[in-house]
Amino acid sequence: MAEAAAKVRATRWKTLDDLDLSGKTVLTRVDINVPVEAGQVTDTTRIDRIVPTVDDIIAKGGKPLLIAHFGRPKGKVVAEMSLRQVVPALASALGRKVQFIETLEGAENPTDEARAAEVLLLENIRFHPGEEANDADFAARLAALGDVYCNDAFSAAHRAHASTEALARLLPACAGRLMQAELQALEKALGDPERPVMALVGGGKVSTKLDLLDNLVEKVDMLVIGGGMANTFLAAQGLGVGRSLCEHDMTDTARAIAEKAKRTGCEILLPHDVVIAEELREGAENEVVAAGDCPDDKMILDAGPDSVAHIEQAMDRARTLIWNGPLGAFEFAPFDAATNAVAAHATDLCQAGKLIAVAGGGDTVAALNRTGAAEKFTYISTAGGAFLEWMEGKTLPGVAALGG
Ligand code: 3PG
Repeated sequence: MAEAAAKVRATRWKTLDDLDLSGKTVLTRVDINVPVEAGQVTDTTRIDRIVPTVDDIIAKGGKPLLIAHFGRPKGKVVAEMSLRQVVPALASALGRKVQFIETLEGAENPTDEARAAEVLLLENIRFHPGEEANDADFAARLAALGDVYCNDAFSAAHRAHASTEALARLLPACAGRLMQAELQALEKALGDPERPVMALVGGGKVSTKLDLLDNLVEKVDMLVIGGGMANTFLAAQGLGVGRSLCEHDMTDTARAIAEKAKRTGCEILLPHDVVIAEELREGAENEVVAAGDCPDDKMILDAGPDSVAHIEQAMDRARTLIWNGPLGAFEFAPFDAATNAVAAHATDLCQAGKLIAVAGGGDTVAALNRTGAAEKFTYISTAGGAFLEWMEGKTLPGVAALGG
């Protein structure tokens, strides 16, 4: 983590307070890649979190021209991925009229209405092939649309795209308020944390979180492994996991991670009792058995109560918690019990001022939102992939580009 922290500390990124915005058009990269169903935004979190940035730009006399992506249209115009459908939710969150600009030509030759508008939103930037190619000419065309660049899209900062990377090098650049908050919170949790630090990593597969586990055993004091990936670690100890989600071809890797943890002095916490069932569905009949006692025809779907108590006791010793991934199959009760119990314990410790708790990643936030635990965490990241790459200790191109 020290390495990752050093990377951020070395970037010396500017904030909106460091640049003169008066009378300037501020090209503001935001992430409003939000879930939409039947044309309605179903979760406005990412939109709500950019409001302070837009407000501050306007308060400082600037005019925000918002640049964002939606989905993965791969350089082509895909009608269903138009950002136009997000405009009502954006206007409502901002409490301001948002002028939608459909084409780059439209932005280059603004109408009187666009000139008069307080906030502009450009159509899905990924409709242009130059965006994902991080193309220099495309970035220059974007740069010509404004005077200052503000990146408020931490959750897209793991992408080296024209609007997240190249553009930052062409104009006076700064971090927006959300980017600032994300970087500060993560720095506090991973870069220069109060120890002991506990990381809780859940989710399905060891193979997708290999870099993460490998980095964490070097950086944290306690590592709780939950979800499907815990089964791979149990199998690596020769314990039976029945029909559970388990990557049997990754058991050597799991053993290597456990060995490394011993060398680095990181305590790994695996479930020692588990909740098993024959099928994964809401309310499925289930029982608690010792880890290793899962019969061939059943599967492990959650950590058991003893494991929860063990995690909670360990958490009582921690000063910092960083959480990515649920402990069980949380979408189906009662297999959300361990995740909910541990989350509730974390929030109690947070509220008592004993723990700094940070969480991120799509599933994690969805799991914590179900019980309202998310609101009581110290910080909830809006990022999925970017949060993971950060935890892996990788340099995020969008953050690095702000440091120049
Ligand atoms: C996200 O939803 O995590 C970000 O918007 C990044 O999207 P991407 O994975 O399509 O780059």
